[in-house]
Amino acid sequence: MYIRTNGQYLDLHEKPEIISYLPDLKEKKVLDLGSGIGRFTRHFATKAQHVTSTDLIPHFVKKNQQDHAEFSNVTYICSNVMNLEFENASFDFVFANWLLMYLEDRQMKLLIERIHRWLKPQGEFFFRESCAVKRIKNTTDGYYAYYRTLAEYDALVKDFTLVKEGHIQAYVHAFADPLQCYWHLYTNDLKNREFDKEGPQNFCSERASIADRQGASESKNYEAADTVKQSTELFDRKAGEQSELARRDLTPSKTDSSSHLCITKDNL
Ligand SMILES: C[S@@+](CC[C@H](N)C(=O)[O-])C[C@H]1O[C@@H](n2cnc3c(N)ncnc32)[C@H](O)[C@@H]1O
Repeated sequence: MYIRTNGQYLDLHEKPEIISYLPDLKEKKVLDLGSGIGRFTRHFATKAQHVTSTDLIPHFVKKNQQDHAEFSNVTYICSNVMNLEFENASFDFVFANWLLMYLEDRQMKLLIERIHRWLKPQGEFFFRESCAVKRIKNTTDGYYAYYRTLAEYDALVKDFTLVKEGHIQAYVHAFADPLQCYWHLYTNDLKNREFDKEGPQNFCSERASIADRQGASESKNYEAADTVKQSTELFDRKAGEQSELARRDLTPSKTDSSSHLCITKDNL
């Protein structure tokens, strides 16, 4: 049974899924960029040695801080991500969930270069974005966000080594949306590195076939999802009805404030 309220849905299904993709953080230093109200702070603070949690919006940072006051290993920074400065090789792991979409191309490229520099050798970078079959700049209601293609993000991180990339299955199953994607990367070559049994994986070809599908709507990314095998397997009738309702709530023309905490131009 899927819950319609997007915020609840995200916390119940999407957050654990994302956490399941993250590496072991024991004794690691973590940087969470665009951490919002701190949905992932508890996980990082519990698992890692130290967390630096950063966001642009003061009341998000405050809430994050208040909700995680019991942890002494978290540093909170309220700043535009483009103004952050850290020593080279400061972090073992950098995490950015739904941040890059709010940056202009040139800012994003610069940030990726900096992340590479801020990471230790063999440091890891995980990011997740809302993507599109064709690039869209959504400016609805005074907000803006870039829905970039998978290829754009692949090109952006070419200096990293890809460990794994894929779709957020919670969105595939509930919203028929295969274009919520994540990338897990390393700063260095993978040789001499031990991974789990599956080893490094690359799902590019699977993703490309979805993204390139003829007839996929420019504005309704979700229509491309009907070829995703897993979604058809898992769609029972009840979930299908729920997902249809949720899908209507999440059309790109209504970029909603609970699934994406939208940024006003005034904030940037
Ligand atoms: C959709 S929310 C995601 C929040 C969090 N990562 C999560 O998954 O719950 C995007 C966050 O990015 C932050 N953000 C957007 N542009 C930013 C910028 N230029 N510098 C710092 N933070 C930014 C917003 O304030 C917002 O909290």
